[in-house]
Amino acid sequence: MKSIHLKTSIPGPNSQALMQRRQTAIPRGPYNNTPIFAAQAEGALVTDVDGNVFIDFAGGIGAMNLGHANPHVVQAISEQAKKFTHTCYHVTAYEPYIALAEKLNEITPGKFAKKTMFANSGAEAVENAIKIARYATGRPGIITFEHAFHGRTMLAMSLTGKVKPYKYGFGPFLPEIYRIPYPYEYRWHSSTPPIDWEKEYRHIFDELFSGHVAPDKVAALIMEPVLGEGGFVVAPPAAIRTMAKICREHGIIFIADEVQTGFYRTGKTFAIEWSEVEPDIIILAKSLASGLPLSAITGRVELMDAPHEGGLGGTYGGNPIACAAGLASIEEMQKLKLGERAMAIGEYVHQRFAAFLTKSHQLGDTRGIGAMRALEIVKNKTSRHPDKESAQKIQQLCYQNGLLTLTAGTYSNIIRTLMPLVISMDQLAEGLDVMEKAILALAD
Ligand SMILES: Cc1ncc(COP(=O)(O)O)c(C=O)c1O
Repeated sequence: MKSIHLKTSIPGPNSQALMQRRQTAIPRGPYNNTPIFAAQAEGALVTDVDGNVFIDFAGGIGAMNLGHANPHVVQAISEQAKKFTHTCYHVTAYEPYIALAEKLNEITPGKFAKKTMFANSGAEAVENAIKIARYATGRPGIITFEHAFHGRTMLAMSLTGKVKPYKYGFGPFLPEIYRIPYPYEYRWHSSTPPIDWEKEYRHIFDELFSGHVAPDKVAALIMEPVLGEGGFVVAPPAAIRTMAKICREHGIIFIADEVQTGFYRTGKTFAIEWSEVEPDIIILAKSLASGLPLSAITGRVELMDAPHEGGLGGTYGGNPIACAAGLASIEEMQKLKLGERAMAIGEYVHQRFAAFLTKSHQLGDTRGIGAMRALEIVKNKTSRHPDKESAQKIQQLCYQNGLLTLTAGTYSNIIRTLMPLVISMDQLAEGLDVMEKAILALAD
């Protein structure tokens, strides 16, 4: 039986009416990818206000690994809401904050003592991780990457490596940020595969430390083990290991930003585990609490304890409902073995994407790890010139035919998959059929 069910043309009349109100009441800055409005969502399906049912390959931008409306999470939210919704952790603390911190200290990589604090968003977690790293080292510098995305607050935006829409018009950006290339094999400039990543990064860091910043002035390196908004580029383990080694040699804190990669999306609990590197600090959000606004900063005790009492915090960070949702989400993700599900989904998507590649001259690359899969759309396979317009056309054709997808990449030319990991194999196949038709329609 098909899951997609379109009652009206897209957008339907109710969505159109809401869009008119939206245009009047809300500025254009907070963008909308599609002109439809949600009424209900369950598992990997979203129903809009006109009764149209979509398959969801966007998962609230990776926040819904556990699927929409997981009953165990909904129950935990409602039980906590009945007890109390907010006291502020700093005023009257509560057990869910402690229990979730203990859980994250246990399941994050690193065989060393850890502590965790909570904030509200991925960007806010990035800010806090950098504050902690600077305080602990007494150094100002931060190393970040081309194609990185770390959020939209001033520091997180300064660390981000994409101009439009994230940075354009919002400068000046913060100082003491040093940007190096991400190990992006498909677009690597100086060598053809196989690339000796250790040699490449030894050279990059030699140049950085002699030409731009002394290593003893660098507090931290912040890295996404797989680029999220940057286009699902998987950093080769050899590159990550080399960078972690260089950081250790110079007392630089290695921060893994796992806001998008965390919680089984790549097949392991956290993507950094594929490289066997143990980050000094790991940043989590999105699927941590199944879409409730919650982020975590987990790190070595001596780093996390460095800032003085009162130096970190906020009114809502670690809200009790969000923490209860986090605890229930982790329990449920472990029970449902989402890592195994991510690998099965990824294997199937990979095979379908590889077949798509043979059918279209506009598909340059397919890549990914676990269920984090991408298609890079180009003008043609030889020039590899990014084709943003075609990627947008594919996305539009997809939603008009009942599939919600997202693009990514510095050139906005990448289609990525962030479906809930509870999606059924039938739904997955149906969604990919829609995507295949949209890709083939490009040639028409
Ligand atoms: C890797 C990464 N870091 C940070 C962020 C920012 O998270 P938020 O949007 O919750 O501020 C994102 C969001 O997509 C992300 O993918």
